[in-house]
Amino acid sequence: MSVAQQAMEQLETMRIGKAGDPCVMVIFGAAGDLTRRKLIPALYNLAKHNLLSREFAVVGVARNAMSTDQFRAKVADDTREFAGSVDADLMDWFSRRIYYVTGEFKDASSYQQLRDQLQKADKDHGTHGNYLFYLATAPIFFADIVQQLGNAGIATSGDGHWRRAIIEKPFGRDLESARALNNELKKVLTEDQIYRIDHYLGKETVQNILAFRFANGIFEPIWNRRYIDHVQITVGETVGSEGRGGYLEQAGTLRDMVPNHIFQLISLTAMEPPISFQADAVRDEQAKILHAVSPLSSEDVLTRAVRGQFGEGVSEKGERIPAYREEPDVSPESRTETFVAMKLSIDNWRWADVPFYLRTGKRMPRRHTEIAIQFRRAPFVLFRDTPVEKLSRNQLVLNIQPEEGISLQFGVKTPGPIMQLGAVNMDFRYSDYFGASASTGYERLLHDCMIGDATLFQRADMVEAGWSVVTPVLDVWKALPPRNFPNYAAGTWGPKEAEELLTRDGRHWRNELR
Ligand code: BG6
Repeated sequence: MSVAQQAMEQLETMRIGKAGDPCVMVIFGAAGDLTRRKLIPALYNLAKHNLLSREFAVVGVARNAMSTDQFRAKVADDTREFAGSVDADLMDWFSRRIYYVTGEFKDASSYQQLRDQLQKADKDHGTHGNYLFYLATAPIFFADIVQQLGNAGIATSGDGHWRRAIIEKPFGRDLESARALNNELKKVLTEDQIYRIDHYLGKETVQNILAFRFANGIFEPIWNRRYIDHVQITVGETVGSEGRGGYLEQAGTLRDMVPNHIFQLISLTAMEPPISFQADAVRDEQAKILHAVSPLSSEDVLTRAVRGQFGEGVSEKGERIPAYREEPDVSPESRTETFVAMKLSIDNWRWADVPFYLRTGKRMPRRHTEIAIQFRRAPFVLFRDTPVEKLSRNQLVLNIQPEEGISLQFGVKTPGPIMQLGAVNMDFRYSDYFGASASTGYERLLHDCMIGDATLFQRADMVEAGWSVVTPVLDVWKALPPRNFPNYAAGTWGPKEAEELLTRDGRHWRNELR
């Protein structure tokens, strides 16, 4: 059997996990894009891999007037479009346990209807009174929905049944609003009922950061300030506002990407080994890192945080890419950032003096997310009487997406009579071993919630710690509106200040990115 076949077999064994508990999943915002593209296909995929209980039902709730039959037809179409191949019998089984309630999220009568529907589902599908509420709505509804669930008496876990709520992002828009939202939720739910989702934690390669670090003995000894010079995190997107101009104008890229997705990447990369794989053991260590990220003073914000907005540019194919300000629902004078770069430090023994540089932006040249660990150079250049003047750094790159893998870069002698060095890569690609995955990234997270494993969800203290770092930057940026927007062309790696953030320290972004 080849290594690839063995690996496929191992993967299948892992997939034959335990099915989720019997439950009804209630999706608020059932007519929206997230439900269509991710949640429904993810549920179907779970069913396909026998990871969904046979005692299961879905109740969609949204204000759009629709009958259950119409919703079932929509679900079938969406599943076909986004879940890849669909088996007719399984689709039929799935469809028969899907229901729809038309209702306003703030209207108490919607919750009476929902309660009746839930009782009926329990009876028809044996779902044991376990309810998973998924809040896939605009954030202004989060607190109201939870309050209404409480008022309707369907939010409390009890003897023999559980009630859990998955809360989508954005969770607040700064520290104060995140705290306020946590307080509102906790009036009705206990912390162990609240699952704050960050879809980055559903990505295999993000989960693999922990496996890579803690399942191998050879990396951890060098995973610290003695050997690591700095860390670069890039989350590059080629898309612009994608029809979400209204949301992005309000949020901006800093809020949209940093306190959640990028801080997950930082905390998993930098955390200490947890004492076990229990949810709170892992999250305690992540939280410690988030608390150790030193918040930027107002002066730091000016020198260590860079913002940008893309102007028009040219695509690789030579086509014109319109500026952000030309996009739908975006003000022609918009001052919203579509790019952020920052230099952060983590104040603890492992990472003192090791900068973590991060950058993320829309309309970058490539869709590419990576964590690049840049090691210190060898202590001196041995090859004195040769053309070799400077040694390169070894780099270990965790490629998160779209090429999923890990690559180690090191120097070798290039063939020939003269001593010259070249950089080469040792590459591992997921697709070589495990084939292409047909996952939406939500399967694991939904399944974890169904079995009560909160490891990959954010705790209140983690969310608040993230906002504590970001809020001072938001405050300074608000007080000093940008005067040079747009300051990078679509299709480039951001404004020149982002490059200067590193060149000042004698470093460079890995723009060749491979
Ligand atoms: C979302 C942001 O949370 O993440 C989007 O709101 C962003 O603006 C998206 O495009 C990126 O996710 P992914 O999985 O495509 O990297």
